[in-house]
Amino acid sequence: MMSSPIFIVLEGIDGSGKTTAISKIGEYLESLGRKVMITMEPTKGAIGKLVAETDDLTPESEALLFTADRACHTKEISECLGAGYDVICDRYFASTLAYQSVSGLDRDWLYSINSKVIREPDVHILLDVDPEISLTRVGKRGEKVSRFEKLDYLRKVRDSYLGIAKAYGLTVLDASRNEGDVLMDIIGMIDRRI
Ligand code: TYD
Repeated sequence: MMSSPIFIVLEGIDGSGKTTAISKIGEYLESLGRKVMITMEPTKGAIGKLVAETDDLTPESEALLFTADRACHTKEISECLGAGYDVICDRYFASTLAYQSVSGLDRDWLYSINSKVIREPDVHILLDVDPEISLTRVGKRGEKVSRFEKLDYLRKVRDSYLGIAKAYGLTVLDASRNEGDVLMDIIGMIDRRI
């Protein structure tokens, strides 16, 4: 008999390989005959769009909007799991803890507002990579923000993520390796859950 649906979350800075890994995980689960839903945050819903499109938010309002978006998203995720779908999510509460704490907000406060609106992932992964590598992968050299400023910011986000992984039990995978090796580790974790 097929095991119960699982909730998988991938976290990491841009260029850590989340998107590619997620589509491969989806293909793998489907090859086992499972139903799969792939989703992401911020969502394409009204609150997700608002936070993605508004430039002049304060750190607090941004954190509250990402969290409000998540509250609606968690409901959808739970409905999908209830309908028998494995759910694979690109970013979840650890993104708010990582990015918004770098904007100066208190991590415990961020967790406390999030704790009311999340469900515990069954597989919760941080794809960890040096921003020097991730920036090269996403090819974002020569943007308006200088590469140096961006690197400095992303190093803070990476450190923040690593602290969060430790505190909230995310599995840290070295995502500087080739895609195939990273995927094998992820599939190993999933196989132990299904
Ligand atoms: P994403 O869509 O993954 O990146 P991009 O627009 O570069 O393709 O996420 C958008 C940005 O939002 C990303 O830089 C991370 C940030 N973010 C937060 O700061 N807090 C959050 O809670 C979430 C979900 C995303």
